[in-house]
Amino acid sequence: MKKSVSLFLIMSCLAYANSYTKCIGCHGANGEKAALNGKSKIIKDMTKAEIKFAMLGYKDGSYGGAMKNLMVAQSKSLSESDINLIAEKIGK
Ligand code: HEC
Repeated sequence: MKKSVSLFLIMSCLAYANSYTKCIGCHGANGEKAALNGKSKIIKDMTKAEIKFAMLGYKDGSYGGAMKNLMVAQSKSLSESDINLIAEKIGK
């Protein structure tokens, strides 16, 4: 039982690291940068729920501003559980 719990935690960390790595260049290692000179919100200041809502919205085309196509491309390859992990880590 204990073993499977810690294995689960390790797997979640790896899944998070894999899926967030490609975001760092624009949003910062902890979501502290506004992407591309202020074109996005500072995502670490968003709540977990807001990040989930935004990412799921980019995936299905219902969310976004002038540069949404860029984020549609970023979100397409993420599963809902990847998005949950990112929101849990970055959101407040
Ligand atoms: C090439 C730069 C770039 C990369 C890489 C990138 N983003 Fe973004 N992100 C942006 C821009 C620009 C916006 C604003 C898009 C718009 O107009 O809706 C944005 C918006 C967002 C938003 C919504 C914030 C808002 O302003 O409404 C979230 C959440 C987000 N990104 C998370 C991520 C995550 C998670 C990843 C990695 C899977 C990622 N981004 C990768 C540039 C990037």
